[in-house]
Amino acid sequence: APSDLRTLLLDRIEDVPDYPKPGVVFKDITPLLADSGAFTALVDALAELAVRHGATKVAGLEARGFILAAPVAVKAGLGFVPVRKEGKLPGVCLAQSYELEYGNAVIEVKQDSFGAGDRVLVVDDVLATGGTAEASLALIRRTGAEVAGLAVLLELGFLGGRARLEESLGGASLDVL
Ligand code: PRP
Repeated sequence: APSDLRTLLLDRIEDVPDYPKPGVVFKDITPLLADSGAFTALVDALAELAVRHGATKVAGLEARGFILAAPVAVKAGLGFVPVRKEGKLPGVCLAQSYELEYGNAVIEVKQDSFGAGDRVLVVDDVLATGGTAEASLALIRRTGAEVAGLAVLLELGFLGGRARLEESLGGASLDVL
């Protein structure tokens, strides 16, 4: 049952107080990744979502999103596309900037990442303020692709990411495991 999966996964995520700065509780997924059974269950669940939502590509958000999205793509029989921080991808890229708590960040994707009719499942580890996810959805749509959905392992509900994403999701799904 999904609740068993949730328990298995959440048991292996550690809260690290005051990291990376005082007052922040960091969600450390490395114990989950180090546990073959939990990691496999996570990848299987995300791959099932990719298939259910009719995705044709899986996009991962740097850096922790890569760790999840790449095996999900393989398991679902789909290609993987990296959405990277500025300056890391060769060739012609599209860039999208978004606001952080202090200052700005820019993410990029290669312009030719997707073909006509592609439907993209975006995968990341954590939905916090939703800024990264919102920018990635806009970026992917600017390539001409359709967003099938956003799937994350964890949602930090108190940061309001879900509400922020409501408009940018449109008809696309938001799945939290
Ligand atoms: C974290 C996390 C998400 C994002 C969520 O990534 O992996 O991508 O922040 O935050 P938001 O919803 O407030 O945008 P981070 O920028 O720390 O990058 P990293 O994975 O490279 O450490």
